[in-house]
Amino acid sequence: MIRTSPDAPTDRVAELPDRSVVPAVWSRITNLTVERGEGSWLITTNGERYLDYSSGIGVTNTGHAHPRVAAAVAAQAVKLLHGQQNIVYHEPGLRLYERLRHVLPGDGWGAFLSNSGAEAVEAAVKLARVATGRPVIIAFRGGYHGRTAQTMALTTAKDVYRAAFEPLPGSIYHTAYPYCYRAGHAIDACICDWEAQLDLTFHQFIYPDKVAAIIVEPVLGEGGYVVPPPGFLPRLREITRQHGILLIADEVQTGFGRTGKMFAVEHWDVEPDILTMAKGIASGLPLSGIIARRELIERWAPGTHGGTFGGNVVSCAAANATLDVIRDEGLVANAAARGAQFLAGLRQLGERHRSIGDVRGLGLMLALEFIKPGEGDGRVPNPELAKRVLAEALDRKLIVLSAGTYANVARIIPPLVTTPDEVGLALKVLDESLTAAGA
Ligand SMILES: Cc1ncc(COP(=O)(O)O)c(C=O)c1O
Repeated sequence: MIRTSPDAPTDRVAELPDRSVVPAVWSRITNLTVERGEGSWLITTNGERYLDYSSGIGVTNTGHAHPRVAAAVAAQAVKLLHGQQNIVYHEPGLRLYERLRHVLPGDGWGAFLSNSGAEAVEAAVKLARVATGRPVIIAFRGGYHGRTAQTMALTTAKDVYRAAFEPLPGSIYHTAYPYCYRAGHAIDACICDWEAQLDLTFHQFIYPDKVAAIIVEPVLGEGGYVVPPPGFLPRLREITRQHGILLIADEVQTGFGRTGKMFAVEHWDVEPDILTMAKGIASGLPLSGIIARRELIERWAPGTHGGTFGGNVVSCAAANATLDVIRDEGLVANAAARGAQFLAGLRQLGERHRSIGDVRGLGLMLALEFIKPGEGDGRVPNPELAKRVLAEALDRKLIVLSAGTYANVARIIPPLVTTPDEVGLALKVLDESLTAAGA
């Protein structure tokens, strides 16, 4: 007979289970075991303090365990943990749906709530197909949209995210994102041929009137924190309108103040048809969703999409508190100000360390791209150096992440509550780490 048990042998002793209980598929950039977090800091079980400029991959925009968010979670948890969306309404959900209808300018928006970023993208794709009656989705090379089957098929940020999982869902085509540094020119003098490549896609692969949507990250995330040239999103909006194609802005990483605007599309005054969101929405509780034009949402027939946990009541309470904190503490403005401070400091580092090929960023989405000076075209990617810099920074108790197709980009994602002193400290640590790594 099979015997199951909710207990592990270690439940009877004080020590923690061996780390090998966690499967290796969760690749990990530190070996830290953390106990708690406060604002920009993570505190380990040994009491060591790390400046967390990963923000749990862009999630803890209000900082770790913000007291107002934590209090909202605790208050909700003792009342109701699960109020399933197909069965009941709940107050935190109703309030959040209403607020999300108004985060973008204008009146005609509706929202849908789910659990993860990938699920939000899945929802956007399903809605685009059902609302247009068209089958095809176009995504950008270097984009990242998640790890479910559909979102893997959209993702091309790096081989590891998809290459072992063919066959992937079809009717998806990829076109060029304008990556000015790799193309060899300045962002304000962009001559990238992304528009010609999109036109070629229409002439070589698929008729535009078969395309339901184009999905785009306003700033490439996993693909290397690539800020596009000023004309890109406005022109893409024009082209999509011309062909009756919906524009999906994937703001899972850029949303909720990260770039110094509530949503990154505001930098270019572009209105998408559908916007996906997750990460920063609930300060760490699992929640995601889309905002879409109401007439699109209204074409989504009851029961054709959903999920058990979507719009969880505790997550919704956390999201409402997160929105309050973002508003009351002026976190969007702080992201812009701290971002400008950080970028100026990084530019100085770029002048002193020869292996930094590019310094870029928008708000608190910042990156250093490492190259091998004097080799090839002068932009040969240097992932080994990026790895060493990250390791040196970690030794000095600063957590930053890598990104980019060649993993040669250090990306810095501070929480939006970070202070001028913390930014100064991080710049000092980065300078020392660059020197120690031989940059
Ligand atoms: C732009 C973008 N879209 C979608 C996702 C997927 O989100 P999740 O990991 O919550 O599924 C991510 C995650 O990094 C992302 O950055």
